[in-house]
Amino acid sequence: MAAPVNVISPTSLHPLPRQRVLNWLSEHVPPPRVKHILRVEQTALWLAHHHHQDVERAAQAGLLHDLAKYFPPDKLLNLAQSAGVEITAVEEADPHLLHADVSAIVARQEFGVNDPEVLGAIRNHTLGMPGMSLLSGVVFLADSLEPGRGNNPELEAIRQVAQQDLYQAIVLVCDRTLHHLIEHRRLIHPRMVLTRNWAMQKSAQQAPRKTSS
Ligand SMILES: [Fe+2]
Ligand SMILES: [Fe+2]
Repeated sequence: MAAPVNVISPTSLHPLPRQRVLNWLSEHVPPPRVKHILRVEQTALWLAHHHHQDVERAAQAGLLHDLAKYFPPDKLLNLAQSAGVEITAVEEADPHLLHADVSAIVARQEFGVNDPEVLGAIRNHTLGMPGMSLLSGVVFLADSLEPGRGNNPELEAIRQVAQQDLYQAIVLVCDRTLHHLIEHRRLIHPRMVLTRNWAMQKSAQQAPRKTSS
């Protein structure tokens, strides 16, 4: 993936109190995860710029996407339940999956984020969602493709695809995650399969015009 657009700095973008978010993160998230979050913020910003999406919203969602990453399972379940999030059997068995929904809850409650696009992108960053916006797609991809995820040939190939066809890149990221889950005999959330199928059909529909919205 090409270098981030250096004329755009996250610090100059959104009215969100970014320093307050960084302070909050330093108290709730270990330093390596904060670095991941900052790389997701930058990668989302760059991908959004590349695909003519809203860079401010992409950067915000990137900065906020993992707020609840280190909340314990009980806290994730309680916060999700009290906010009316539908909890499936897979999430009950693996509450960590709820960190995306709960990060959106924290973004709203702690930092006053009300933008449905930004909140949706936070919620969808792990499993995606059939019909999700391109902004959600950008943040979903940024989470998996940020430079800290490594440089193996498979990831590099997906990064290349992400510059041409966001939907096809979403399919490839889902495939990669599904392979990993099968290999490690972990539960598969049905939403990831639905996201994959939806993105595959979207990619086929838009061919050969690959970067349209
Ligand atoms: Fe996450
Ligand atoms: Fe993440």
